[in-house]
Amino acid sequence: MPGDKSISHRSLILASLAEGESRIRGILDSEDVRSTAGVLRALGVSIPALSADMRVKGVGLRGLRAPRAVLDCGNSGTTTRLMAGVVAAHPFSAQFEGDASLSKRPMQRVAEPLTYMGAQFEFEREDGLPMRVRGADLRSIDWDTETSSAQVKSAILLAGLVSAVEVRVTEAARSRDHTERMLRAMGVDVENDRNQVCLRPARRLIPIEMDVPADPSSAAFFVALAALASDGELTLTDVCLNPTRTGFMEAMKRMGADISEKGGVNKAGDASGTVLVRPASLHGIRITKAEVPALIDELPLIACVAAGAGIDIEITGASELRVKESDRINAVVQNLRAVGARAEELPDGLRVSGPRRDLSGSVDPRGDHRIAMAFGVLSAASGNRINIMNPECVAVSYPGFWEDLRRVAA
Ligand code: S3P
Repeated sequence: MPGDKSISHRSLILASLAEGESRIRGILDSEDVRSTAGVLRALGVSIPALSADMRVKGVGLRGLRAPRAVLDCGNSGTTTRLMAGVVAAHPFSAQFEGDASLSKRPMQRVAEPLTYMGAQFEFEREDGLPMRVRGADLRSIDWDTETSSAQVKSAILLAGLVSAVEVRVTEAARSRDHTERMLRAMGVDVENDRNQVCLRPARRLIPIEMDVPADPSSAAFFVALAALASDGELTLTDVCLNPTRTGFMEAMKRMGADISEKGGVNKAGDASGTVLVRPASLHGIRITKAEVPALIDELPLIACVAAGAGIDIEITGASELRVKESDRINAVVQNLRAVGARAEELPDGLRVSGPRRDLSGSVDPRGDHRIAMAFGVLSAASGNRINIMNPECVAVSYPGFWEDLRRVAA
């Protein structure tokens, strides 16, 4: 499986801010991670082309240079929000831009805490991109937020890191913690206590040598495919098993899926291991707010699994889905209906209901990689005849997806 996207972004950003050379093995080479590499290059870091075994020479905390052009973040929210935190703590301005989907996504959620810390933000419209960030010497912050967002949390941690001030973030439920783990591995005093994290000032970042584990969000498509199959067995190796990312597998187990994990290896501060999936008969469940952060990116897939298995699923407390690469609540429900499944929108989630039927028709993923891949799984399940429009949008997170799907489904 391809490397983890969240860890790949962070490995480039933190290696760039370290003092000395870091080595990164197994980075994900996808459009989103290329956007982060491009932004870092525009800020004066010499990042080589992404490759399976690469080295990055860091410029140190505050070693970035003012960009001569706009920072093009493509389709990547992680690039924009994490780099907004980094730029906010440097003594220059930068203009962030992105594609049509990214330009519509909320950025005030990072602008608010970073403005409180002392940076200045200007928006061409009320929110979204283009966004201009004027950095400054930032002050400490204790930020309490109802949204659980690893991107917002990481922006604040990175701003605190570069400005050498203490920062504390408390979120409603704990979001993925890769930034914290990597910072600790690079010598920074970062403490997690349930849904709260505190970073204390550090003088420098020690370079690291790291192996990026496989992305559990990419693995999830194949876990789903194997769970829906009528026979066979699937083994996925070296998958990141960080507990803030395994919500999908936990939910699938609650649905009756036969999934077992053998963990053990520690990669980039995260547990990783082998995942074994066998077909099983699935039953309906409810997913509620507290579970959402650990499976946020897999919710469209859960809805597709429910439609594929013909079971009832209710997801609530997931209004964040409306501000992802597409409005994923609407995109999933409309497309499920288009192929003949029963689904309805809720303000903060959705419902899918059985019984199972063969699905057929055309799916418009709206340029959203995870919608395309979730319906890709349904298209590969036996009995269905589904055509996915603009399938190339998967390149932002998983360029080889269709090839792997053909190989595994065969
Ligand atoms: C990510 C965090 C999540 C997730 C996104 C990647 C990250 O977004 O949906 O795909 O790498 O930090 P939010 O932090 O906005 O929930």
